[in-house]
Amino acid sequence: MEYNISILPQAERAVTDTKSIPFGKIPTEHMFIAEYKDGKWQQPRIVPFQDLTLSPLALCLHYGQTVFEGMKAFVMEDGTINIFRMQKHYERFCKSLDRMCMPQVPQTLFNEAMHQLLQLDSSWVPTEPDGSLYIRPFMIASEGRIGVKVADEYLFMIVCSPAYQYYANPLKVKVETQFVRAADGGTGGAKCGGNYGGAFYPTEMAKKEGFDQVLWTDAKNHEFIEESGTMNAMFYINNTLITPALSGTILDGVTRDSLLALAREEGIKVEERQIGITELAAAFEAGTRVEAFGAGTAAVIAPIEFITINGKTYNAYVGADAMMYHLKTALFNIRRGLAPDTHNWNYIVK
Ligand code: COI
Repeated sequence: MEYNISILPQAERAVTDTKSIPFGKIPTEHMFIAEYKDGKWQQPRIVPFQDLTLSPLALCLHYGQTVFEGMKAFVMEDGTINIFRMQKHYERFCKSLDRMCMPQVPQTLFNEAMHQLLQLDSSWVPTEPDGSLYIRPFMIASEGRIGVKVADEYLFMIVCSPAYQYYANPLKVKVETQFVRAADGGTGGAKCGGNYGGAFYPTEMAKKEGFDQVLWTDAKNHEFIEESGTMNAMFYINNTLITPALSGTILDGVTRDSLLALAREEGIKVEERQIGITELAAAFEAGTRVEAFGAGTAAVIAPIEFITINGKTYNAYVGADAMMYHLKTALFNIRRGLAPDTHNWNYIVK
């Protein structure tokens, strides 16, 4: 082990009924924390979950230098704990940090922190089929200074929380043609806090109209689908799985990537390309069976049942034989050790 992570364990808390508690409300017993100062990472620690002490001048509070990841751990068929796609999440974390001028976390530090924390809090990984442990690595600019600048000090942390279904029912979404999530050259491809904060207002407006989420469109002409609030957007039309290409304005979703790989492997035709809202409306108008769903770590696969495009609502297919459920099962089987992990996506915490 390259990093000597100090561990301050605390007495095990009884794991109560975490299923009835909203997503992300209950932390596990421990958290990981490392401080970046004087140009290097200081002594990394695992400590009991606790509040932070932060200067009110901390730069993250003012200028939004915050980046995060969303990962999951599962209980495998043989009882071991599996952290899914740790490498891909790490790589995306690095890209987001780079875009936000934040220091890189060495891969060994990331992996060791993940391993030790999950080992310590392994009893918190739900065993139910719809349960997993949501892992939230994140970094914030902690330097206290009000001047607008790239911070010199940061905190890299990992917290975890038991998670179940993110969306209980098929979604009703509105294709958003007034507000934008991201524009070319912006931070849309980075998993930074600001992307989410900026999305709240349009999403709340949509919720007031009775929608669960918005489907973002491109910033130039509001013509092409981008992604949805907490997930990538996917469509299955005429035996083809279609999803917006990674243009820099949408997130390089790990679930998106996994589903595309699984679909290709099964011989399903996959297209990563622009999807026009007129193309989508035309498919519905023609009576074509359209499956629509969101793909994300928290949401996994979230079926979309109603899509409103320019005021007209269309009905997408969410029947039990939909292709999306087939992909969901294939993903489930790999993550739980019920199917071979031919891609090396699983990291088993020994
Ligand atoms: C995830 O799916 O992990 C996300 O980060 C989306 C949301 C929970 C913020």
